[in-house]
Amino acid sequence: MSNITLKVNGKTHALDLDPATPLLYVLRNDLALRGPRFGCGLGQCGACTVIINGVATRSCITPLSSVKNEITTLEGLAKNGKLHPVQQAWIDEQVPQCGFCQNGQIMTAKAMLDKTPHPTDSQIRQTMATTLCRCMTYYRVQLAIKRAAKMIASNLTGSKKEVTA
Ligand code: FES
Ligand code: FES
Repeated sequence: MSNITLKVNGKTHALDLDPATPLLYVLRNDLALRGPRFGCGLGQCGACTVIINGVATRSCITPLSSVKNEITTLEGLAKNGKLHPVQQAWIDEQVPQCGFCQNGQIMTAKAMLDKTPHPTDSQIRQTMATTLCRCMTYYRVQLAIKRAAKMIASNLTGSKKEVTA
């Protein structure tokens, strides 16, 4: 066991844990953040994705000891009671089916839009290709990402135009 300080969604946590513990277990079990999901536990499905230093990161294969920067989970996207445009776009496009994979879809999309605000269809498909959905929500994911990109762009320019994906 070791004393570890973890910054998550703006809050600092002092924890006494084995540094080899996967970050996902700590987020869910110790910090009660249930946005990130346990899917495969092998880094293959994306359900456990969080954002660290701007990078969509699979927390199931990330040992605590390797985390050096603040972590953002799904719970950290909304600000002052207002959903992040990606979350709002997900609702507008009614993306989820069973919902299990959607944490990974949203967090991966958010990290992409932060770096690539106007992604092409092929950039979206390429980025999202390894974030798996057994309910086949991929087409709605793509629409929601395009809607979110427009919402973000219109917020930045102060435009009040209606967003159509
Ligand atoms: S649970 Fe982490 S990638 Fe599948
Ligand atoms: S919505 Fe069911 S696995 Fe993606």
